[in-house]
Amino acid sequence: MKLVTCGLPYANGKAHIGHLRTYVPADVYVRYLRMMGEEVLFICGSDCHGTPIVVNAEKEGISPKELVDRYHEHFQRIFKKLCVEFDFYGRTDADYNHRRTQEIVKKLIENGYVYAKEIELAYCPKCDRFLPDRYVEGICPYCGAIARGDECDQGCGRHLEPGEIKEPKCKICGSRAEFRKQKHYFFKLTAFRDFLIDYLENKLQGTENALNYARQWVRSELRDWCITRNLEWGVKFPGEDLVVYVWVDAPIGYISFTEQACRLKGLDWKEIWQNGEISDITHFIGLDIVYHHCIFWPAMLKGAGYSLPKAVVASGMVKVEGKTFSKSRGYVVWVEDDYLRAGFNPDYLRYYIVNYTSHEKDLNFSWRVFMEKVNKEVIGTLGNFIYRVLHFAWKNFGTLAGEVDGVVMEKIAEVKEKIVSAIRRWEFKEASDAFMELAKFGNEYFQSKAPWDLIKEDRKACEKVLISCVQIVKALVIFSYPVMPKTMKKLAELLSIELKSLDEALEPIERIELKKPFIPFEKVDEKKIEEMERIMMERIRRAERAEVEIDIKDFSKLDIRIGKIVKAEKIKGSRKLMKLEVDVGGEVRQIVAGIAEVYEPEEVVGKLVPVLVNIKPAKLMGVESMGMVLAADVDGKPVLLHPDREVPPGSKVR
Ligand code: 2FM
Ligand code: ZN
Repeated sequence: MKLVTCGLPYANGKAHIGHLRTYVPADVYVRYLRMMGEEVLFICGSDCHGTPIVVNAEKEGISPKELVDRYHEHFQRIFKKLCVEFDFYGRTDADYNHRRTQEIVKKLIENGYVYAKEIELAYCPKCDRFLPDRYVEGICPYCGAIARGDECDQGCGRHLEPGEIKEPKCKICGSRAEFRKQKHYFFKLTAFRDFLIDYLENKLQGTENALNYARQWVRSELRDWCITRNLEWGVKFPGEDLVVYVWVDAPIGYISFTEQACRLKGLDWKEIWQNGEISDITHFIGLDIVYHHCIFWPAMLKGAGYSLPKAVVASGMVKVEGKTFSKSRGYVVWVEDDYLRAGFNPDYLRYYIVNYTSHEKDLNFSWRVFMEKVNKEVIGTLGNFIYRVLHFAWKNFGTLAGEVDGVVMEKIAEVKEKIVSAIRRWEFKEASDAFMELAKFGNEYFQSKAPWDLIKEDRKACEKVLISCVQIVKALVIFSYPVMPKTMKKLAELLSIELKSLDEALEPIERIELKKPFIPFEKVDEKKIEEMERIMMERIRRAERAEVEIDIKDFSKLDIRIGKIVKAEKIKGSRKLMKLEVDVGGEVRQIVAGIAEVYEPEEVVGKLVPVLVNIKPAKLMGVESMGMVLAADVDGKPVLLHPDREVPPGSKVR
């Protein structure tokens, strides 16, 4: 039995295209493997612990469990709609996962791989609590980027250990955190260095992106790993008022979900997880969690006496409309709110994800490219061929019998071999290109044989062409089913095709009775795409506005006062600039203002204007400016502002 897993989504937010980047290819892989005769167990589940969940639940005023229930259900619904079919979809907060986690942690303690150590941790004196992981924000000690407690998410991407972050600030109240001592437990990751080097260099298979990163890290930056946290929500660490770090109990979910899947199917989970050194386990993950899967996880398994995964397959990152995927900046496609709500066929998105580029490379999702790709390839090449052949054959014959052209059978066999070879190398684009190539071949074959002419002269010859074309249709339905299961299942029913094995495509049709065909794919409408682009632009604009939103604390940093212009003169050589002397209350400042195109010096003298007095001094055309006069911008031209009655210079503007 082979086990395929997908990285567990945090039950903390809605499913987006970034999630599908991993889950769809994994589902495609499993479907192909099964059609290649392999027995596969496919599992996943919700990642229910960790600070992001606790923080968000706190924000919403609900319990972590309530938040997790909501998103657990959401993910199950999305997977069903996208035809991502797991044998078991569990949750890491379930009893079975608590039990398995505690068993493994105890084993690690027994085997001498866990030790206690007093460390300095970020502590918020105002909230009176320790600040684990995402409760704290500060500066990455490695690259200087703004980072959260456990990960430099905006900079170098490194995992950060508790206490490592510089200049910590409490995420709840914003105050400066201090460091306080507390006893925590560490996993001796450094004890596994030699084992990991050998495992990563000689045993673990997978995509190059995952292996290369992991091989570099294991040599350069292995440190022991703090596995306890100050939280209530999580799996209890034995004998202490602490929980284990979420990255301990999350991957253990792979084991406990396997146990559950096996229980339902009458299989023995130990044959997968306690079955010698390396077991036939393949983890599909995103590139951002390679460290956890290639370093922490195998060391933990080794330390507790479990089998090791055979392969780690990491998908490249996702871009949206050419920009780095970002929920906060609006570069995101929500699976339910955007894609499914608009009523697009899930098969289109599955095809796009699998066929856009190789699994390891970055995938760019653009609504326009989506439309063009689907309309040209899925509909123009594949759908058209299928419908054209079935419609012509049904209309003119009803039943076809005879021998399929040998050239056609050879082509189908060649394409099948291409697919099998591509799947073994996790090259899903290559596999889907191969069936598209068969559809192109089919179109050319149909076109070159011109059955619409042939039927008039030689009905038998025409029948042979058509049965050969229907054989291609049959092969296309079988070969593309793993990528486009929703549509291909319907076609398989129409044509009474078995979807169990790729080899079924090599069985020649001897006789087939045709039913009235349906148009398999609906065209993607440009109007709908324009609407999706509009939604996306609006979201990006909203995010841009929110990014520069400031709070009252920020605003109070601005020292704006009413000043009285006491002297004004144009600056030689500049059309726009005027040198002013402004009384800002007990002090006369020299300020350069860009008002000379609109105002003459004599008309502004004596006027009251708002001035930003604590802006950094600057030199404009060599003239020093110690403040900024505020004005309305009307079509790029300044219009001065004045208080609605006489006020003393220096009055504060709030
Ligand atoms: O990065 C994430 O989204 C994690 N929830 C993945 C966990 S995968 C596994 F190890 F459990
Ligand atoms: Zn960093």
